Amino acid sequence: MAETKANPFLRSVPERAAPRLPEALGAYPQVRMRRNRSDAWSRRLVAEARLSADDLIWPLFVQEDSGESAVASMPGVKRYGLDRLVDAVGEVAELGVPALALFPYIDDSLKTADCAEAHNPENLVCRAIRALKAALPEMGVLVDVALDPYNSLGHDGLVEDGRILNDETIEVLIRQALVHAEAGCDLVGPSDMMDGRIGAIRGALDGAGFQDVKICAYSAKYASAFYGPFRDAVGSGGALAGDKKTYQMDPANSDEALREVALDLQEGADLVMIKPGLPYLDVIRRVKETFGVPTVAYQVSGEYAMMKAAAANGWLDNDKVLMESLVAFKRAGADAVLSYAAPEVAGLLKAG
Ligand code: PBG
Repeated sequence: MAETKANPFLRSVPERAAPRLPEALGAYPQVRMRRNRSDAWSRRLVAEARLSADDLIWPLFVQEDSGESAVASMPGVKRYGLDRLVDAVGEVAELGVPALALFPYIDDSLKTADCAEAHNPENLVCRAIRALKAALPEMGVLVDVALDPYNSLGHDGLVEDGRILNDETIEVLIRQALVHAEAGCDLVGPSDMMDGRIGAIRGALDGAGFQDVKICAYSAKYASAFYGPFRDAVGSGGALAGDKKTYQMDPANSDEALREVALDLQEGADLVMIKPGLPYLDVIRRVKETFGVPTVAYQVSGEYAMMKAAAANGWLDNDKVLMESLVAFKRAGADAVLSYAAPEVAGLLKAG
């Protein structure tokens, strides 16, 4: 019989480890899985993943106007004026949340094609960073690096004839990261998905003496419809021309996520992020197992809005569903999670 030749056009199927036979671990009726579940104390003992306030990063919105304003599509979420910011963050710091992520709500008059406001050292974000670091130096401050809040076209990069420019965008991102670092932020979070920006930002930070400023790379950021409410919150939704599919990832892919993470790590990322969260737990798991590096997940605005909308209708139990969704991230392998519910959840954890 002729030897069968391997077809070079067939994608090789990775071999999976043989499943451990259930017999090797015993069987019913000697084994009763419900025994360990029968008491609260034994459930506590055998719990594999645990959520604590230490795992949370609170994303929050700042606005130019004093006071606070509500975000309609995100019940319970507010934009804070600089007069309210320090108090609001102070309360969350008291609950043990170690870090926050800042996003600005920028007036339309400051949005331009060259996104110059992004690297104005007196812009809203820089003023917010300075106020926070002066009042609450122990709180970690993560700042998004991307042009969308400042872009009249709503995109994360510079736009020319409908195309998103990569290398030209990186030049602006570098300047944005530098003004954030000068203002005192602890981490920069490039969320723009341009190629090569992590290495370029790392080089620029080091060159300016900011070698201790960390980079939390939005490495596997998908072109997701779950960002809708966020775009309301920062006021970039109305402006957005087209979609972000030429730079954010296709939801169908996860091998590609591993390549993105590998590149960002080579370029100097300290933490890598997967975003959105719950629909992408498999990606979190693959990234954590493959690289074993600090892995952050983002429970995005649409995930928050879904839970809140259902809870407001009495269809889901708000507290329980928030806790369950967050422990799921820990089980999948995330070390930390950005969640708009961080203040609420930290309060629930404290109450026990
Ligand atoms: C912008 C940015 C987005 C989010 C964080 N940074 C939106 C987008 O890419 O359009 C989404 C966060 C959320 O939905 O909660 N670079």
